[in-house]
Amino acid sequence: MEKTITLSVVLTFVVVFNNILYVSCVKYEPNWESLDSRPLPSWYDEAKIGIFITWGVFSVPSFGTEWFWWTWKEAKNPATVDFMKKNYRPDFTYPDFASQFSAEFFNANEWAEILKSSGAKYVVLVSKHCEGFPLWPSNYSWNWNSMDVGPKRDIVGELAKAVRSKTDIHFGMYHSLLEWFNPLYIQDRENGFKTQDFVRTKTMPELYEMVNRYQPDIIWSDGDWTTTDVYWNATNFLAWLYNESPVKDKVCVNDRWGSNIRCKHGGFLNCNDKYNPGVLNKKKWENCMEMDRYSWGYRRNARLADYFSMHELLSEVAETVSTGGNILINIGPTKDGMIIPIYQERLKQLGEWLGVNGEAIYGSKPWSHQNDTITKYIWYTSQIAGSDVTVYAILLFWPADNTVILGAPLSSSSTIVSMLGYDGNFDWKPNPGGGIEVTIPPITINKLPCNDAWVLKLENLQN
Ligand SMILES: *[C@@H]1O[C@H](CO)[C@@H](O)[C@H](O)[C@H]1NC(C)=O
Ligand SMILES: *[C@@H]1O[C@H](CO)[C@@H](O)[C@H](O)[C@H]1NC(C)=O
Ligand SMILES: *[C@@H]1O[C@H](CO)[C@@H](O)[C@H](O)[C@H]1NC(C)=O
Repeated sequence: MEKTITLSVVLTFVVVFNNILYVSCVKYEPNWESLDSRPLPSWYDEAKIGIFITWGVFSVPSFGTEWFWWTWKEAKNPATVDFMKKNYRPDFTYPDFASQFSAEFFNANEWAEILKSSGAKYVVLVSKHCEGFPLWPSNYSWNWNSMDVGPKRDIVGELAKAVRSKTDIHFGMYHSLLEWFNPLYIQDRENGFKTQDFVRTKTMPELYEMVNRYQPDIIWSDGDWTTTDVYWNATNFLAWLYNESPVKDKVCVNDRWGSNIRCKHGGFLNCNDKYNPGVLNKKKWENCMEMDRYSWGYRRNARLADYFSMHELLSEVAETVSTGGNILINIGPTKDGMIIPIYQERLKQLGEWLGVNGEAIYGSKPWSHQNDTITKYIWYTSQIAGSDVTVYAILLFWPADNTVILGAPLSSSSTIVSMLGYDGNFDWKPNPGGGIEVTIPPITINKLPCNDAWVLKLENLQN
């Protein structure tokens, strides 16, 4: 008894000592050099796969894209103007859509199960898009948030709770800095962004509120592009986030903190939407892409061919992860809160594929080669354990006559080639022109759950 007490006192002392040491050593300054020196929390790189959920008042018209309001009133896009003319009374305004944002079928636990089925390790909810409508009862958005109008619910709170209690998925929040039609924002813009009334009274208080109330693991910033980080007060916010906020040790942020910042500074790089450079990028990056290739928000008039096929999706996953990226796959729920079956099916298929092949994805590191030198459409990843490197070759096509030449790997006498999800090893021989020629038994394809991409596992290579 006494010994136990002594031990726990010692342990407490060590922990406290470590904390003090940590806190006193690491204090980030509100400038990019200091902020960029913060190591990205390791969970993010290991996760690889995230799901983006784009939901808001735009899900009501559900026509065109989530930029509906802007497209209609600012760009005066003829198709959008015509759509409104044909279907709504002449004095109908965009805010009138909010009361029809019903969310009556929104069930956060069901969403959590759907997310879990995908094998994704994080989710990013569009918590406030450029329309300025927070999906939480924000104190800074009177009568224009999901509690005051429309769903009459705290969407963010419900989803965060469900995801955290039902899954091990990290919960992240998307937040648009700008709001297209906010009068204070327009006023600041017309002042050449020399005044900051919008930032001081809206953007900043809302960001602090979001973090303090929901403690997101990711803040996925957007809407930064009209002006620089100075106007957005971004470095001050991030210094607080990294030094003092309740999420300081786990939070990850992207790079969209000002027109001069994206693709240069921040936690991980998003650069542009669908960014996928195809070559290794040393700084951690993320490919955010829509499963409906024409819109992030749900479109009632989408066609089957507009959605990524499973093969297209896995190709994107393979290329992204091989070159050091994470992939953030977007789905858009309906205004009533449904994730339509095509999205559910893709996510489930992705989860099934990852169930067999996840070893090549989660926690993987880019290998010395990203794609093969001889056979096109093969992407490599690796797992490193001490001095052992296991290489994974992701095949996006089934090789003709069951023979594949891998140009990049150098075999040793003890090299083992197998396929994830299949018992037993494959015959191989050195390829005369370099690399390895692998013979795959024809039966293999019938035994695997998904005929869209396969993973060869290469152990004991020379390189
Ligand atoms: C925000 O609103 C909540 C609940 O409506 C209230 O409890 C809280 O005091 C408010 N906070 C601020 C800073 O106004
Ligand atoms: C910017 O952040 C600093 C530090 O939190 C704060 O003192 C200042 O008022 C902020 N400015 C605006 C415009 O939000
Ligand atoms: C694969 O890598 C090479 C460089 O080794 C590059 O030239 C080629 O475009 C890449 N292939 C694809 C499909 O991206």
